[in-house]
Amino acid sequence: MSNGHDKQWDGIVIGASLATLDGDSGYGDIADGALAWRDGVITHVGPRDALPGTPESLAREVIEATGWITPGLVDCHTHLVFAGDRAREFEMRLQGESYEAIARAGGGILSTVRAVRAASEVELLAQSLPRARALATDGATTVEIKSGYGLDLANERKMLRVARQVGEALGIEVRTTYLAAHALPPEFEGRADDYIDAVIEWLPQLHAEGLVDAVDAFCEGIGFSPAQTRRVFDAARALDLPVKLHADQLSDLGGAALVAEYAGLSADHVEHTSSDGVRAMAGRGAVAVLLPGAFHVLRETKLPPLDAFRGQGVPMAVATDCNPGTSPLLSLRQAMQLACTHFRLTPEEALRGTTVHAARALGLQDRGALRVGMRADFVQWRVGHPSELCYWLGGDLCDSVRVAGTRVA
Ligand code: NIG
Ligand code: FE
Repeated sequence: MSNGHDKQWDGIVIGASLATLDGDSGYGDIADGALAWRDGVITHVGPRDALPGTPESLAREVIEATGWITPGLVDCHTHLVFAGDRAREFEMRLQGESYEAIARAGGGILSTVRAVRAASEVELLAQSLPRARALATDGATTVEIKSGYGLDLANERKMLRVARQVGEALGIEVRTTYLAAHALPPEFEGRADDYIDAVIEWLPQLHAEGLVDAVDAFCEGIGFSPAQTRRVFDAARALDLPVKLHADQLSDLGGAALVAEYAGLSADHVEHTSSDGVRAMAGRGAVAVLLPGAFHVLRETKLPPLDAFRGQGVPMAVATDCNPGTSPLLSLRQAMQLACTHFRLTPEEALRGTTVHAARALGLQDRGALRVGMRADFVQWRVGHPSELCYWLGGDLCDSVRVAGTRVA
């Protein structure tokens, strides 16, 4: 036997309620549950009293638990590898400056680019790890991390390498996204198309180094045009890499429809997405990634087209967008809370948004629900009902976090 002992399973948790999220609606709850795994994969999900024997006879490790167990949370959109912070910019915005005005004056994303370029790989890891650890200790077992503050080959590579190191250091899974088309670096001032040429040239190199799982761009007035985004997407397609997009955050440039056209995984932000954009997404199965942290911090008022997403069956994911400018948010639970208060998601929608739908936004089919055959990624919470995960602001509700059956927090 590959697990080197004569019991059927490596481990089993008994006694807690399970929010399996298996099936299309409801929490998929099982009271007084039993969840078992072997070789990192879930082998049994059901009520404890339906087990085929005593837990001790079935599994090497038996864990008695209370509260609720959910699938491991998936943060499908972060920029958590960065150096420095932008607290001063936050003050400026509170005094009336806009995000766009600060960006156009060379602040914003470009000020983080300067800090990232100045940091060594070791420093960048040291600054980024505590943020990833905060996400993991609040239940995140898979975290997407984007590049996009390097904006040259060496510094984009440095960011992506650090992202991989974050995953190894914490025992969580990190999915990397190449976002060199995030802002125009000063050395390309006035030459955005030339910069896109460079972005396209770097991609195969970084991909060959195993550093790229997906490709993203910032399609916006202060970012890149739809035509430039298309060129980046074509380069991704040539390498068979999936695409996603910062789409329609501050204005409607048709980003959501562009994602659909390229059969992309997700359109993210989507506050200004039109009904045509929603229809296009529905037709191609793209996920809408809601980022209520950025909405909250920028004090936005334009809500994403939530009813249209629901009506057309577009799955809605929820992510932190953890970044130094618009969303210094270090908890997916907090993102869920903001999604409920600002976007009126139900707690069940919010939980699906950080599990099933978030996994889908990363193209991952092996996680996001508690089901036999899925990876044994799960979180044990000190709550009386899953809606509590969206209810508290802050606090410590997380008892334990497991990735492929191994405890990481
Ligand atoms: O998702 N919109 C562009 N990117 C980030 C913000 C990055 C930054 O301001 O540093 C976002 O909101
Ligand atoms: Fe973002």
